[in-house]
Amino acid sequence: MSGNVTNASDNSFAGSAANDVLVIGSGAAGLTAALVLAEKCRVLVLAKGALDGGSTNWAQGGIAAVLDAGDTFENHIRDTMIAGAGLNRRETVEFVVEHAPAAINRLESLGVPFNAEAGALHLTREGGHSHRRIVHVDDATGAAVQQALLKAARDHPNITLLPGRTCIDLISGRHEAARYSGSGRIWGVYALDEATGKVEAHTARATILATGGAGRVYQFSTAPRGATGDGIAMAWRAGARVCNMEMMQFHPTCLYNLDVKNFLITEAVRGEGGRLINPRTGKRFMEFYDPERLELAPRDIVARAIDSEIKKFGLDYVHLDISHMPDEFVRGHFPNIHDKLLGLGIDMTRQPIPVVPAQHYTCGGVLIDLEGRTDLPGLYAAGECTESGLHGANRLASNSLLECFVFGDAAARDILRRWDSFDAPPEVRPWDESRVTDSDEEVVIKQNWTEIRRFMWNYVGIVRTDKRLERAAHRIQMLSGEVNDYYGHFRVTTDLIELRNLLQSAELIVRSARARHESRGLHYTLDYPQTDEIARDTVLVP
Ligand code: FAD
Ligand code: SIN
Repeated sequence: MSGNVTNASDNSFAGSAANDVLVIGSGAAGLTAALVLAEKCRVLVLAKGALDGGSTNWAQGGIAAVLDAGDTFENHIRDTMIAGAGLNRRETVEFVVEHAPAAINRLESLGVPFNAEAGALHLTREGGHSHRRIVHVDDATGAAVQQALLKAARDHPNITLLPGRTCIDLISGRHEAARYSGSGRIWGVYALDEATGKVEAHTARATILATGGAGRVYQFSTAPRGATGDGIAMAWRAGARVCNMEMMQFHPTCLYNLDVKNFLITEAVRGEGGRLINPRTGKRFMEFYDPERLELAPRDIVARAIDSEIKKFGLDYVHLDISHMPDEFVRGHFPNIHDKLLGLGIDMTRQPIPVVPAQHYTCGGVLIDLEGRTDLPGLYAAGECTESGLHGANRLASNSLLECFVFGDAAARDILRRWDSFDAPPEVRPWDESRVTDSDEEVVIKQNWTEIRRFMWNYVGIVRTDKRLERAAHRIQMLSGEVNDYYGHFRVTTDLIELRNLLQSAELIVRSARARHESRGLHYTLDYPQTDEIARDTVLVP
């Protein structure tokens, strides 16, 4: 029997006192939910590493919302569904788009200093949007949002923030100390205290997963190191369905630099006039791929175009050039990117920027409804770890922070609405470490981590084939034995927990990709280039 399991023979209460609601993740989705809940109940927020360690803090371009008199909800809905290649659920798209202006108002009331011009919020433009509708704080919107949400959460007496906790697995009926009541409920989570190495049980009446994406399953990704699909893997292991995991978004323009591996060059650079140029021919190339929308075509099209130019001409990168715009305009719109690049010896007011595509966003995830409910009673989810139906086969730029605000809020409100139906959590079994020892071979983790990320990039990347997917599936099967064996024998560390989740995420992505026999949005395969008439979700059932 593997070692890292709960001990069936020990009935003592496992850990810290029960909370009203547990939120896992302190990014845009988690903190939005916590702030709404805190008006009525006590909330504990757990985060792996630092409180600002998720993708939210890294977001650049901004947040999409219809705020201009010339724009309409219907335009935003249509753009979202065109980008999503018809796989979106219209009901979700309407729900999110219509709640966007209120979400922006709330952020303003929390003090987010959005850029404004002549008394109105400045709206920038990004690929796939037919209108200017991106609200932003220069080119570092996420950091401003993260700071404002964290400040409000820190100031709230009903919110406790616990960073440095890596959640391992959800607590379900089988972990109840007394005989399992049969309710099938989720009662909280087992989490590693990163400082002490001890595993605690945190129980609550309701739990919200807001753990972000699984981008780091790929060798090249714009996402932070902790984006290892932990929430998706935890929900799957606990019995929740996941949906459309094959829909992995690659951002077209990540900086190509041998020292700085994952610095994003915001889509807004193209929105404000940036051109993509083949450095060998010196010519713009988007006219060969999308003659109408050119550089502002949806991301999947631009990323595939760059990938194709790189392969066709044997290039390391292509150029993104905005040096034809006035210096002041470039510096004014992109102060952070400008300074960062200058530090690397690239003056974007005079030179083109070398860029390559990189994994950027996980469109699929834990299946939720419009209230943020998962399949499991007591378990909600919001943000990038979910599949809400908003993004479909490809996320429209700047719709994801928006999704976090709308679904963080919706999940919290549903919990408050149904409060009377949430029982107090039972006593649960403590984490059992009696059969594990400290690892003497950390190199196994590093080796497996590197291997997964490399074969996912090469075999399950921008362009797929049956053969490549089969190769990836084969490798995942081989690594599963090794990783599970390791997990069963050694004391957990954050690296080991992440490796286990990374492999689980890879497996879900490959299984989903193998199940889709067409090309749609982000899933492009040479073996099935056609798009089927009817769009169907890929739903995996545990
Ligand atoms: P995150 O902000 O990623 O937060 C996840 C949280 O979960 C973190 O607190 C993390 O510590 C915690 N966590 C994870 N695993 C565990 C665990 N096992 N135990 C405990 N805690 C855990 N979107 C836009 O709409 N506009 C943009 O301009 C934009 N720019 C982007 C730029 C970059 C470089 C990147 C990477 C993404 C960008 N995105 C953008 C996407 C957007 O930032 C994310 O989709 C969004 O921030 C996700 O928020 P979240 O709350 O779901 O997760
Ligand atoms: C960007 O600024 O290009 C990222 C926007 C997004 O991912 O939505």
